[in-house]
Amino acid sequence: MTRRCFIIGHPVAHSRSPLIHGHWLAEHGLAGSYERVDVPPAEAAAFIARLRAGEFVGGNVTVPNKEVVLPLLDEASQTAQAMGAANTLWMDGGKLHGDNTDAYGFLAHLDACVPGWARRSGTALILGAGGAARAVIHGLVERGIGRILLVNRSAERAVELAASFPGTVETRPWQGVARLVAESDLIVNTTSLGMHGQPPLEIDLSALRPGTIVDDIVYVPLETPLLAEARRRGGVPVDGLGMLLHQAVPGFERWFGVRPQVTAELRAKLEVDIPRV
Ligand code: ATR
Repeated sequence: MTRRCFIIGHPVAHSRSPLIHGHWLAEHGLAGSYERVDVPPAEAAAFIARLRAGEFVGGNVTVPNKEVVLPLLDEASQTAQAMGAANTLWMDGGKLHGDNTDAYGFLAHLDACVPGWARRSGTALILGAGGAARAVIHGLVERGIGRILLVNRSAERAVELAASFPGTVETRPWQGVARLVAESDLIVNTTSLGMHGQPPLEIDLSALRPGTIVDDIVYVPLETPLLAEARRRGGVPVDGLGMLLHQAVPGFERWFGVRPQVTAELRAKLEVDIPRV
């Protein structure tokens, strides 16, 4: 029997997840499918009813449905509850389960690119205070990063996010970022700035210490201006594509019973699909 999986979003045509799961299905010779389904938030409950009725074994959820699906689950993982959002769904024993694998993806990619990164990351600087920032901070807290500085254009959103991590996350004004760069061992851009079609992320890296890890979760382009500048200054650039690849692993394992690998071959397949800008 063909196991059908999905990604629901709105819009969803841009999603590269079918490329990832299609690669793994072929690699493991599995009879399965992974389909894009455009589902506006108002239609999420109707779609979930189709999942419960057996049309699919599970799937992914992307913007703007990650929060909408949470109250529709029977079992939300602790991470999904902490995020207030789920990106991976599966049926098990007649129950609908949901997890959020974004933090896992972020950490797994860093582990793969910069082994031992957590030991050298006494201070982390996070740019942005949306859902992606919440996932990144959740991951950093899990790994015991002791000092997390958070800056965001809208200060009140940063304060609100920091309140979810009492005693660990300190907010700082966006205007002071250049000075914070000098204090940081790990810098993560979670804003959409620097993405193709968006304004650039204008941040002064002149105080960057060589060896500082600079991680941009934007992956179009693969090397953002932030990463290019970090590389030029002796920083360790980490691109956003790996997070996308690694966050897909737990879902595939749930749906198809095989834990897939993030290989150079898979990465190369995705890279071809990313426009050079
Ligand atoms: P996601 O869930 O993907 O993190 P989001 O919740 O829309 O997306 O958050 C986007 C982040 O990018 C926010 O931190 C946002 O800052 P605000 O909270 O001030 O809106 C940031 N962002 C987007 N456009 C920006 C811009 N032009 N300048 C500065 N920050 C920007």
